[in-house]
Amino acid sequence: MTVRWGIIGAGDIARKQTARAICEARNAELTAVMRRTIGGARAFARQFGAAKAYDSVETLLADPEIDAVYIATPVYAHAEQTISAAQTGKHVLVEKPMAMSTAECRAMIEACQQQGVQLMVCYHQRFNARHQKARELVEQGTIGQVTMAQARQCFLYPSPCPGGRRVRGYR
Ligand SMILES: NC(=O)c1ccc[n+]([C@@H]2O[C@H](COP(=O)([O-])OP(=O)(O)OC[C@H]3O[C@@H](n4cnc5c(N)ncnc54)[C@H](OP(=O)(O)O)[C@@H]3O)[C@@H](O)[C@H]2O)c1
Repeated sequence: MTVRWGIIGAGDIARKQTARAICEARNAELTAVMRRTIGGARAFARQFGAAKAYDSVETLLADPEIDAVYIATPVYAHAEQTISAAQTGKHVLVEKPMAMSTAECRAMIEACQQQGVQLMVCYHQRFNARHQKARELVEQGTIGQVTMAQARQCFLYPSPCPGGRRVRGYR
């Protein structure tokens, strides 16, 4: 089965990571993208070969040819958009952080449960093969009782905005 995806908030992270991943996955198709301007949405759609471009969340959610949405808008919008998506029967992959409060997260979970759709937060590192191997080693007791863990992770950090807080002091 091919999952037909719509992106709500086709901005930075969608462009850098997720749109390409959807396009490359064997069981997925990037059907539609949404940005707040139709010109921006069309440009994004062209770049990734999506058939449709929308400039509002409502019109994307009204599209019956979309099975699942990836929500990559600012955090304050995640709860409302997830609940709306669930109410239109779409499965949801929402960017992290999930929402603004525990109450919002609970409401998102409840809405998706009620509508029988999947809800997932985009914690992609859980699918990193090394992390899964570490988990397996711990769970199976292969390395005995773990009492302390130390981890170091390296990844490409593309040129950050000047003064970006995450790299301050490291460059
Ligand atoms: N960037 C990262 O490296 C990164 C990493 C981890 C998690 N995230 C998470 O991903 C989400 C998006 O981050 P980003 O960096 O990609 O932000 P961004 O570049 O500002 O993109 C946000 C997108 O949402 C759209 N948008 C903004 N407000 C909206 C609203 N009220 N309703 C509908 N659409 C709206 C924007 O439309 P326009 O395109 O028209 O402006 C844009 O397409 C955030 O939750 C963030 O925490 C990002």
